[in-house]
Amino acid sequence: MLFNPELCRNESEVESKLIVQYLLPQLGYTPDTWHQEVAVGSIRLDFLAFAVQVVPLVLDANSPLSVVMEAKHPKQNLNHHVPRLRHYLTSLNVGYGLLTNGREIRIYEKVNSDVKLVFQCAGKEVEAKLEDIKDLIGRDSLKNRQLKKKLEIQVLNREQERQLPMKTIAIYHHKGGVGKTTVAVNLAAALSNQGKRVLLIDLDAQANTTFATGLIKFQFEEDDDLKERNVFHLLDAGGENNLLISDVVRKSNGFNQPEVDVIPSHITLIERQPKLAMYGASRTRLAKKLELVKDIYDVVIIDTPPSLDLYASASLTAADYLIIPSDLKPFSNQGLVSVKNFIKTEINENRENMGKQAIRIMGVLPSKISNNNQYIKYTFPKHRSVIPERYQLPLMDNMITERTALSHCINKTLVVGNLEIPDPKSIFEFARYESSASQAAFEFESLGLEVVRKMELN
Ligand SMILES: Nc1ncnc2c1ncn2[C@@H]1O[C@H](COP(=O)(O)OP(=O)(O)O)[C@@H](O)[C@H]1O
Ligand SMILES: [Mg+2]
Repeated sequence: MLFNPELCRNESEVESKLIVQYLLPQLGYTPDTWHQEVAVGSIRLDFLAFAVQVVPLVLDANSPLSVVMEAKHPKQNLNHHVPRLRHYLTSLNVGYGLLTNGREIRIYEKVNSDVKLVFQCAGKEVEAKLEDIKDLIGRDSLKNRQLKKKLEIQVLNREQERQLPMKTIAIYHHKGGVGKTTVAVNLAAALSNQGKRVLLIDLDAQANTTFATGLIKFQFEEDDDLKERNVFHLLDAGGENNLLISDVVRKSNGFNQPEVDVIPSHITLIERQPKLAMYGASRTRLAKKLELVKDIYDVVIIDTPPSLDLYASASLTAADYLIIPSDLKPFSNQGLVSVKNFIKTEINENRENMGKQAIRIMGVLPSKISNNNQYIKYTFPKHRSVIPERYQLPLMDNMITERTALSHCINKTLVVGNLEIPDPKSIFEFARYESSASQAAFEFESLGLEVVRKMELN
């Protein structure tokens, strides 16, 4: 059957017979992917077709490659309509424009702020040239080109991301119970939610981070699969137990969506410490093993013990940054002095020996801060100002207030038969069904943004 659009007698026949009945279906545009008489501001388009179905119709910088089709009366000279088509394509960010009066068919491509004629044929040649037209503005080829472009952008993004070096943050204070573990796990979740590849390392023998990320759900000692594969083995010297990060890393279990990678700790770290302490190299081994995974992770977060022992030393030697959670109370402030001395006398010397620069203190993070209005108004500002003034330490911009949701989410359990199984959650997971957790989730989200900004990750 020969289709001859030159037999169209007026503009509306060019629209109905050539475009609606012939071109759109031949080019693969189903009725849900094209629109007729589209008004955008002062612009009125005859036809707008999308490679990908868009509901609702949006036209912005990200709108999928699409085609405008303009039908003219057979007596109209197409040359007169090119400036208008150029205006449509460039101002609406549309990739292609088809212009026809039935006697002639032209296709223009948008190139920056201009258009270029990329195809031209007589109306009666349309069937013979259909494949050429399809290659240019057929729905499948546009979709493929769009997919290719998207993949190219993804590859580009990934390459750019890869250029950003992995950053390691230790969460440390000489004082216990100030919220180190709470901050470590929920900051890890916040960064993971931002799309960062996060490794969380538990270097505290209390193994609270290991618990909080869902790795201690077993009920009986014989089910303990962490004892022989945990963070100790990363610090241990030589032999077959000298394992790499890939040998001991686990995925958190039901903790957060997306989950994070975790290097677990174990209560046996305490009794095993004397062995490590015999070798100075134990303090630098974690830092060296982290070097090997610098292309796999964006951020490493280390939860530490409230001590000045070998585990604390190994943590601070491996970290680029230090965050010090503190309730800002007098006892905690005294701990700040020993943190500073520890860094001055031991940590920075270890680092210097390894050719690493001094650890950067990102800041003291006010943590477990009372919600009491009077406290926030009068005492808290004084407590804050003491940190830079008396201790010459920077403060983080954000703070974490005291909220029961933060302990509830770690201590959540599931009852299965007659067993009560731990089912700990990040504050973000918990906030999905506990509206009382939303404020704390917000504080951690905001902390995550500050940390990324301060690490110059974005
Ligand atoms: N912001 C907070 N609001 C309420 N409870 C908190 C908060 N931060 C920590 N806690 C609770 O305080 C206790 C000690 O916190 P944790 O994070 O384990 O401190 P650390 O690791 O410094 O010992 C835990 O029971 C924890 O649930
Ligand atoms: Mg802890």
